[in-house]
Amino acid sequence: MRQTIIRFFVGKGGVGKTTCAAAYALRKAREGYRTLIVSLDPAHNLGDVFDTELGDEPRTIESNLVAIEVDYDAMIRKHLKTLGERIKDIYGYLRVLNLDKYIDVLKHAPGIEEQAVLDRIVEIVKDYVFRKSVDVLVFDTPPTGLTLRIMALPAISLIWISKLMELRLAILDRRKAIARVLGERRWEVVVAGHRIELPIDVAEDPIFQELKKLYEEYSMIHSVLTNKDMSSVIIVVNPETLPIVEAKRAYDFLSKLGISVSYLIVNKVLKLHAVSNELRQKLTEQERALSLVHQLFSGMNVVEVPYLPFEPRGIEALEKLAQILKSVE
Ligand SMILES: Nc1ncnc2c1ncn2[C@@H]1O[C@H](COP(=O)(O)OP(=O)(O)O)[C@@H](O)[C@H]1O
Ligand SMILES: [Mg+2]
Repeated sequence: MRQTIIRFFVGKGGVGKTTCAAAYALRKAREGYRTLIVSLDPAHNLGDVFDTELGDEPRTIESNLVAIEVDYDAMIRKHLKTLGERIKDIYGYLRVLNLDKYIDVLKHAPGIEEQAVLDRIVEIVKDYVFRKSVDVLVFDTPPTGLTLRIMALPAISLIWISKLMELRLAILDRRKAIARVLGERRWEVVVAGHRIELPIDVAEDPIFQELKKLYEEYSMIHSVLTNKDMSSVIIVVNPETLPIVEAKRAYDFLSKLGISVSYLIVNKVLKLHAVSNELRQKLTEQERALSLVHQLFSGMNVVEVPYLPFEPRGIEALEKLAQILKSVE
């Protein structure tokens, strides 16, 4: 069995990410690949597209095809709970300070949503990719801005954490030096009237150990995201200037992060023949947008999907779309 592939469908709201992701997943499943599609969009519509009820528990749509709509509130609550527990573990020796107060404030900290989604991605990758229980993992993502912040998180965090690890080592070195001068093997201080022992050894320092653990976790997900044989982003746009220009910015950003963009789907391309003047104008604008696509994304695999005369919902409609997307790997 070959390695699992991971595909992120990214694009502006309304361009057809969910629809294309669903059609792609359906095709992969029909080709015999065990496929899991996960909606990470807080405004889920994956269930609507498959015309079925979905939730946080994996649900089988048909043979080889399983879908999940992550429960956003539960995901954020779980993230905060884990974070709180980790903080209490690390700062256990500082129990005299009221840690709950600090942990409570975390709810409103910037970046919590991105962290929580990334946590869930890591969980899914561990559960399904590392255990090799699926061949194709498809993510339907939130609108572009949030998605890019989530995907950048591992790379940015790695830089931060390595700096913090350096700092922590320097602090421990100082503590060690002071303990030596004082002729003691331990280092004790008084906080709020309580004597507490501070670790001086790297191996015993919960903060350094936690940083190391975080570093390893982020390295793992970063290498999964930047492994071009495994993961890539499929950008979806409409033949209109704004989504195309936004897509170009996303493409440049992802390239900087070392994340591969393998396809560009231009969805909802109007193919009309005998038309009125207004529509002729619309078609001329579309032509202009399409040439912008080829100008901004030269060399990229571009797939055009026609504007269908029906809303592509339900398996039967998705089959037609899947056929159009058959060249997308
Ligand atoms: N090729 C297409 N032709 C016609 N309608 C489409 C096409 N692709 C998507 N749609 C419709 O466009 C709307 C937005 O699609 P959706 O997949 O929900 O977008 P997104 O997930 O990017 O917000 C839906 O009503 C969907 O049925
Ligand atoms: Mg959607």
